Amino acid sequence: MIFADYDIIKEAFGKKELSNRLYSEKIQVDNDRFLKDWGIIDTAESILGKDDRLVKNGVGISEGIGDGYYDATHRRLRVHWHDTIKRLVGRNKISEIIQHSSAQVNAILKAEGSVPQGIDPREVFVNGTMNVVTGFSLGILYDFDDPDFQDLSRYVSVFFENMREMYVWKLLVDNLPVWMTQSKLLTPLHNLNPMKKFVPDWCQYIFRQIKIHRQKLDPANPNDFLDILLIAAEGDSELGYFTIASTIIALYLGASDTLTNTMRWMSLTLADHPEVQEKIFEEINRSIEKDGEIIREKCPYTRSVCLENMRWHPVVDTLPHRATADVTVAGVNIPNGTIMQAALTAVMYDPKNFPNPEKFIADRFVVDGEFVNDVKVCGFSLGLRNCIGKQLAIEQYFTYTANIVRDFKIIRTSGNMEIANHTAILMPAEINRVRFEKRRPN
Ligand code: HEM
Repeated sequence: MIFADYDIIKEAFGKKELSNRLYSEKIQVDNDRFLKDWGIIDTAESILGKDDRLVKNGVGISEGIGDGYYDATHRRLRVHWHDTIKRLVGRNKISEIIQHSSAQVNAILKAEGSVPQGIDPREVFVNGTMNVVTGFSLGILYDFDDPDFQDLSRYVSVFFENMREMYVWKLLVDNLPVWMTQSKLLTPLHNLNPMKKFVPDWCQYIFRQIKIHRQKLDPANPNDFLDILLIAAEGDSELGYFTIASTIIALYLGASDTLTNTMRWMSLTLADHPEVQEKIFEEINRSIEKDGEIIREKCPYTRSVCLENMRWHPVVDTLPHRATADVTVAGVNIPNGTIMQAALTAVMYDPKNFPNPEKFIADRFVVDGEFVNDVKVCGFSLGLRNCIGKQLAIEQYFTYTANIVRDFKIIRTSGNMEIANHTAILMPAEINRVRFEKRRPN
């Protein structure tokens, strides 16, 4: 079932019975099997040691923050996430992480982006975004050529290359009898599960990070999301080592291609609207002159351009949700087990919500010189299972945009907003290239 109307999505996804992912006991059984078969349990025990609190907790609730039921454990994970945001915002840490990664991105654009044929900035934005996640969740800011960072980058790519196959696998496991999917005779088939290509190695990396965090953990002064989770796991046996690993993995997967493609569309949109670039440039310079730095609240036009770009090129619709009870929405019965998605794009292209929706209108969200948010630009989804990374993403997206326009003129060198052929993400085709021309000589 697909929802395509704002009020209906809000009503549906506000209900806990409709806020579960495509998950079931059969999928849980399959997860438990691969954790054993692929050596993930052994790896955790050998890296962390048998006496580690997490090893005592065991695997835990295996689905992590981005998957599974909307249950008490999921809600607790969200609380820990928001607690981390509050603490790090309080210490100015989030802005620090984002500014650091934005400076890394600009340095690469300076070095590589001014070539006459232009570039597709995909890789630069993926790396920048992944480093924000790494800074926030693990307290590390990598150089992009660090071997550990390169490994993380590879895991994310492998995930997106195999996304369709992973959903097919899930549906198979969910629809066949357990004796059939779990039979030892089918071990060679189990190894075809695309998750085998990246989950064991990624878990190993996270277990090593857990070990390092353990050694310097100050319970009174947690430094990042992993610290907060380790502290919480002391009194919560459902937070096992795989709960933590899959939660951190979900952050990379949730953040990387969404923000990257939002930034790619932004680069292309700005390239086709040089007058918009100049207005952003003037606005952020006024803020710098007055406040010594770019203050988001004082840049209504730039914020409007950011929101309009998200509306004009929404990169994703929602992930699948599944009903765990019969529920009525807008007078229609949704039977237990129904799989649903919300077409966020439909909301953002509905002329009832946005006049001339097919047009890019840079100042659509500026009224009397002030930025006015519109909740119907709902790219982060609505309700109980909406995007947890929203706050982080908005700050990063604004900072990247403002700092790029401060340092570069963006010029189109090829393509015409062509959309790539992809099952889940609205991304520009690689042919769409832009040049980042330095505004000042070094
Ligand atoms: C422009 C950037 C982003 C967009 C457009 C976006 C959009 C979305 C959407 C549409 C969903 C699905 C919600 C649903 O099914 O109802 C989602 C879920 C999620 N997002 Fe984002 N996201 C972005 C950035 C981020 C970032 C930066 C992070 C993490 C740092 C993140 C982490 C997640 C996670 C973990 C989920 C799963 C939440 C759950 O299942 O409860 N996202 N996001």
